[in-house]
Amino acid sequence: MNTAGNPASSNEITRNYLDSILIEMRHIDNTLPDTTFRLFGEEFATPITTAALSHLGKDSEHGMVEFARGGAMANAIVFTGMGDTKELEDMVATGAKVIKIIKPYEDENLICEKIRHAEDCGAFAVGMDIDHAFNKKGEYDNILGFPMRPKTLDDLKRYAGMTSLPFIVKGVLSRVDAEKCAEIGASGIVLSHHNGIIDYAVPPLMILPEIMKAVNGKLAVFVDCCMENGADAFKALSLGATAVSVGRKLMKPLSEQGAEGVAETIRLMTTQLKGIMARTGVANLSSFDPSVLRLP
Ligand SMILES: Cc1cc2nc3c(=O)[nH]c(=O)nc-3n(C[C@H](O)[C@H](O)[C@H](O)COP(=O)(O)O)c2cc1C
Repeated sequence: MNTAGNPASSNEITRNYLDSILIEMRHIDNTLPDTTFRLFGEEFATPITTAALSHLGKDSEHGMVEFARGGAMANAIVFTGMGDTKELEDMVATGAKVIKIIKPYEDENLICEKIRHAEDCGAFAVGMDIDHAFNKKGEYDNILGFPMRPKTLDDLKRYAGMTSLPFIVKGVLSRVDAEKCAEIGASGIVLSHHNGIIDYAVPPLMILPEIMKAVNGKLAVFVDCCMENGADAFKALSLGATAVSVGRKLMKPLSEQGAEGVAETIRLMTTQLKGIMARTGVANLSSFDPSVLRLP
């Protein structure tokens, strides 16, 4: 609880956990680090991706298309969340490799249409944020008039089987769900508490080692929530994450500088990551070693 007697926020707990992880230095035998990132047959400059944001630009000049353009400029993967078909088409047209995360709509036809549309318009991958089925009162969620529903393993298997695109499940925060995602043949999961969708959520990095062990290389593991600098990314990658997704940290640069702000922030975080890789003996993304970290 915080001093006002309210539950501590998951973002605060996650931030504190990230800051409690410390890093050794290892300088002998090192080379210049390389952050080239390969995923699903494509090559990127960085393992830092955008998180699946949405509805940006309503109160400012720059929105989701500029967000995608910024990701493309940094040669980084761009996740996107709730949005219409035209927006996704315009995002893909920037040249960005876009991963479309679809809401767990009650309307199965809508889900099918959105999966097919993502494939037809050239998205890089598609997926679902399974953690948005309920609201905080234990009722089914309703987002902007769209009713949501929890999804079964069979539902997810059907969605994954409906497309030739990699299928990513976002909002995994337990070994149980991670194993289910591996079972249905998902190509990836995003460890996330969705910007504090519940209080006292386990920090994604606290549960990451357990999840890496459980999925045993069967799928890509993205991590989001409170990823703000290269050190956060380094810690996630050292603990086995395939890539790291950045959400709120990109919002101010986007609203102030558009695509350039997004690209600059991703490039800066990548440079910070490289700086730590150089001082810890990590030559490339295949050579991270968790023993360089001191966990609390
Ligand atoms: C403005 C905003 C919109 C978001 N929209 C979506 C969405 O449509 N779909 C989704 O899966 N997550 C959505 N998220 C959650 C993010 O993808 C991410 O999980 C969360 O913000 C944690 O990352 P962060 O701490 O880096 O912001 C949204 C977050 C924000 C702040």
